[in-house]
Amino acid sequence: MEITHDGQALPARLGEPLALSLIAADRLLLSRSPKLHRPRGPYCLRGACEGCLVRVNGLPNQPACRVIVEGGERVETQNVLGTRETDLLSAADFLFPQGIDHHRLMAGVRGLSPLVGSFARRVAGLGKLADHAPPALPAERVEVPVLIVGGGRAGLGAAAALGPHATLVDDGFSLGGALTALDPRRGEELARRALSAGATCLPRSTVVALSREPEGQRGELTALVVTPERTLVARCRAIVLATGRHDAAPAFANNDLPGVLSARAALFAWQNDVLLGSRIALVGAGRFAEALVAQMSGAVELVQLDPSSVVRALGRDRISAVEARVEGKTRRIKVDALAFDGPGAPSFELAVQCGAEVRFEPEAGYSPVAGADGSVSEGVFVASGETTWEAIRRRLAG
Ligand code: FES
Repeated sequence: MEITHDGQALPARLGEPLALSLIAADRLLLSRSPKLHRPRGPYCLRGACEGCLVRVNGLPNQPACRVIVEGGERVETQNVLGTRETDLLSAADFLFPQGIDHHRLMAGVRGLSPLVGSFARRVAGLGKLADHAPPALPAERVEVPVLIVGGGRAGLGAAAALGPHATLVDDGFSLGGALTALDPRRGEELARRALSAGATCLPRSTVVALSREPEGQRGELTALVVTPERTLVARCRAIVLATGRHDAAPAFANNDLPGVLSARAALFAWQNDVLLGSRIALVGAGRFAEALVAQMSGAVELVQLDPSSVVRALGRDRISAVEARVEGKTRRIKVDALAFDGPGAPSFELAVQCGAEVRFEPEAGYSPVAGADGSVSEGVFVASGETTWEAIRRRLAG
């Protein structure tokens, strides 16, 4: 297929995420950060980092990693004065190396305050209004015995165990969660198992919010679910949260340069025939890094680095080198891209929305506190095995 990016025609593959088409065409710089206009590119390839926000067919703020190529997409860079590469507003990053405190800058200075305010409104924000209003999705109220959030290994296991009672929602293009990058065949097999047990599976769908009506620990569980075709207000008897972990972000200077991606994203790109470069720094260790080494060795040059050795990423609009401390010396290592694997943070946000308590552990971050049966609050469970499924069956029968 063909798409255009800032007016230039590019080849793309039908049905792939738009971000992959752009990366394959060597477009790693896709957007600019709202305030300092720093160059931004895809980091997660799963709709979680905002590094790939573009205007698509006149609609602003579309995450390119969540848009499926149908052919003919008109992709434009938003929020720049000039071009994607030469954004005059990026002078803000140069002029304010310590950042801008927009609450205090010229605030209260007679004559200047309103001027600065109106300038800030023009340069900040995320793009211009849409050319036309997108079609409104029809909304519907539904009853769902068990809502499972997350279609990775744990969520699919829950769906297979709970069968026809279960409706599984996942925001990925296909089911499998991390397995879509690590072991796509295994992901497909688990998805088949869940479907043949009678579960309903809704990929490309997001649980936007969980609430209790009326408010309070014992109110009925309600989920707001957005699918590609409709919006659902789902009344649920039980909810299973199998939301996994967020990709970790590396802790070194310039970690936001385009070309710095999570190892999971790099692996996903590789699985979809998109190479990030011929020399890639692989920083950190974990299952995604291991899979990258196993699958990419021989095809690309991998420079493996310990996270504590990396001082900063270097480059203007995209990473071109890494500065690292190796054997007591500071080295500049040329690379085309960097993949980072580190301990991800648990996705606890939905659990908190429905009343779960969270505990902080320095090594693992915040995670919901679960009882012996996997419950984190009344009717809400984290996927954890047969004891949990039994508790849910009892709840449905009661
Ligand atoms: S949101 Fe698209 S790459 Fe992260």
